[in-house]
Amino acid sequence: MCGIVGIIGKNIKTTEIFDKLEKLQYRGYDSAGICIEKDNKFYVHKETGIIDNLRKECPNLFGDVIIGHTRWATHGKVNKTNAHPILSANGCWAVVHNGIIENFAELKDKFASKDELITETDTEIVANILEKGKGKEDLQNFIFTCEQLKGSFALCVMKKGSKSLFIAKKKKPLYVQSIGNKTTIASDPICFEKGEYFKMEDGEYAVANFDNVRFFDCKGRLVSKQALKCFELVSQISKNGFEHFMLKEITETPQKIRGLCKHYQTIDWSFLKRWWINKVKLIGCGSAYHSCLVGAYYFRKHLNIDAEALPASEFLSDNAILDSSTLCVFVSQSGETADTISALKKALKKTKKIISITNVDYSTLASLSPIVLPICAGVEIAVASTKAYTCQIVSLYMLVMALKSKMRNAVRNVLNLSKRLDRFSLDVSKLAEAIKDQKNIFYIGRNLDYITALEGALKLKEISYINCNAYPAGELKHGVLALIQKDVPVIVLVSNKRLVQKTLNSAFEAKSRGAKLFLFHSQPLEKIDLNKFDGGFMLPNVNNDLTCIFETVALQLLAYNVSVMRGLDPDKPRNLAKSVTVE
Ligand code: AGP
Repeated sequence: MCGIVGIIGKNIKTTEIFDKLEKLQYRGYDSAGICIEKDNKFYVHKETGIIDNLRKECPNLFGDVIIGHTRWATHGKVNKTNAHPILSANGCWAVVHNGIIENFAELKDKFASKDELITETDTEIVANILEKGKGKEDLQNFIFTCEQLKGSFALCVMKKGSKSLFIAKKKKPLYVQSIGNKTTIASDPICFEKGEYFKMEDGEYAVANFDNVRFFDCKGRLVSKQALKCFELVSQISKNGFEHFMLKEITETPQKIRGLCKHYQTIDWSFLKRWWINKVKLIGCGSAYHSCLVGAYYFRKHLNIDAEALPASEFLSDNAILDSSTLCVFVSQSGETADTISALKKALKKTKKIISITNVDYSTLASLSPIVLPICAGVEIAVASTKAYTCQIVSLYMLVMALKSKMRNAVRNVLNLSKRLDRFSLDVSKLAEAIKDQKNIFYIGRNLDYITALEGALKLKEISYINCNAYPAGELKHGVLALIQKDVPVIVLVSNKRLVQKTLNSAFEAKSRGAKLFLFHSQPLEKIDLNKFDGGFMLPNVNNDLTCIFETVALQLLAYNVSVMRGLDPDKPRNLAKSVTVE
């Protein structure tokens, strides 16, 4: 993953690059570093952990050329040596890199001697190939170096004294903005000011100087590029008074769902009517995979069509049986998830009936997809997906309703949901207190509740580091019950009237083995002895399709509370990153 930034201009302050790197921390925060050039000297500062650590340790410097990096480690331990920028052996080239150089071992043998390499990274060889290209022009040397690399990369490179930044990319995003006498390079346009910017394409090269940025093809010939408009407002990515992005983002859910509903009413759905579809595959990773499971349920229920959800990595590993009548739906908040992108490429070989549902309309996934539906969730910063997940579910619901020609019903149901969500608040602090020190937590439910259980358990494990697992309620007795001991919390989800009794029977079987039961239900339970539960919450019931959103929000709040009570940062869980751009 990793986030990279480069700035060239007059008297750029380190604080400016820290601010931009902070916006890229969703891409990884194992370590961070900068290299700034002043009076023909490179000043390099690196720290492990978040940008704030670097900000605290690095003196306030300013210079004319600066590059920065926030790392999610793939090659080499998390330490200062492996943190970027990485310098060439003679210290004249400094490189920040996002991606994986797959042939780095081979290149090391060819281009560097052992004592020249001091890091464990795959990036160091890039700096050293550049250093070796002595006879060549800088751009020629840079192109030659990039041509040696197999795998994926977004690179921003400084050469001492050149007063230039060299950039290129392959399979990883990279953007450029030139305003006045300043050019900024970044992994995501959220680092830019409002205005025009350029999206780098694979095989393109750019050189930024004080007064301009020029783009070249692989032969070093100048190319002209179409500028795009920067639409994000910086205010959208502030915490707005909330202690954490995660809580702010959960709170934004109803407003985002309303925006989505409004937008989906403007879409011309006639393309769907022209498609003959025999089956549906929905593909995503993590939470996006869970929303695919919900989507598959909607397809089966409302359209009586064979629909299956798959994690993108499994779709890639399997002999996927697709034909030109198969509809493939790809779901990804970032639109940059490597497995999902590879899965899309695999599907494109068999079918053109492809829809991608993403939050980032300039993402790689969007650019490769014949049809793109936006999630309309706005920027999501917290690593744990919240509003994007719920908006994905609403997108899928509206897509299915559009196919069923029931858009008006869908709009009514979604608007009703968003109104009820506006008034929805839940104090889960007592439950959070009760489970926060547990080692194992179980989530159970049936049908749609089971999918919500999967998502609830993922949310809690990723930001609390407690081992939480979700099971179909009916599966407990087939093995999992062996793990139930005295006081183990079991979170029980019940939203479907038809399944209430069966789910509760499973819960009581766990209770008989000593479990503590905590219930989230949206069905009246008059005949049930609530004393058998150690805690419970009654949630609003909108309809069988969308009530899962209340359960989801409740479980997001629970995970958030547990994380904070354990003294953790819910926005930046260990070992994870928001955008997973490696397979
Ligand atoms: C969710 O809380 C996760 N952090 C993670 O599972 C995420 O949903 C997954 O990595 C997919 O990301 P994407 O939606 O950007 O493709």
